[in-house]
Amino acid sequence: MQKKEHWEKVYSSKQADEVSWFQPHAALSLQIIHDNQVPADARILDVGAGASTLVDDLLMNGYSHLTVLDISGSALHKTRSRLGARAKEVVWLEADILNFALPANQFDVWHDRAVFHFLLSEQERSQYVAQVLRTVRIGGLVIVATFAEDGPEKCSGLPVMRYNANTLHAEFGKSFELLGSVSERHLTPSGNEQRFVYVSLTPLAAAMPPPIARAHLAS
Ligand SMILES: C[S@@+](CC[C@H](N)C(=O)[O-])C[C@H]1O[C@@H](n2cnc3c(N)ncnc32)[C@H](O)[C@@H]1O
Repeated sequence: MQKKEHWEKVYSSKQADEVSWFQPHAALSLQIIHDNQVPADARILDVGAGASTLVDDLLMNGYSHLTVLDISGSALHKTRSRLGARAKEVVWLEADILNFALPANQFDVWHDRAVFHFLLSEQERSQYVAQVLRTVRIGGLVIVATFAEDGPEKCSGLPVMRYNANTLHAEFGKSFELLGSVSERHLTPSGNEQRFVYVSLTPLAAAMPPPIARAHLAS
């Protein structure tokens, strides 16, 4: 089954609060945004947001430049219906984050909970990181949450990669500074515990050029 088909099936066959990753509030994500003193006019992108209530709480907290992206139109439809009239205040993008042409330097904050861990090939992961580097301004905040090393091997029935803070930071490389990390014990609606790791990263000004370009510069 294709990726989009999988996710459309999930969101059209289950209620938002029936999926294993459901949280009534994205409390830890909100805490990280708060701890990093993200201002109310920050441009925030929630990548693979699904039907998450993060956007509801950000609106409630006065954030006004919000973009919600997901590969599944059914997921976005759930959130838009829940928000009612307030949905108009948000930019909605039904897209695959790996190949959607987002404008450069468009965001101050990139948030991803439980999307990066589905990227099993090095090529997909480097496409994702290139997208973050192009899209998030230097000095912005990148929050990425994945299953932890002792988390489940599958999410939504799909195999995932599991990380600790250092291995997750390493995927993003030297162009990003690790600002912090925190673990989460998520309880699924059916009462199972899933361990997550969240990292906060910032893209650095002096992104290292690739080795070939460096050699050329030196000659
Ligand atoms: C496990 S769910 C997490 C949803 C949400 N972030 C949360 O914490 O509630 C993964 C989400 O990523 C979306 N997704 C998976 N691959 C994607 C891709 N390549 N581009 C955009 N969204 C994707 C799925 O549709 C799904 O909503």
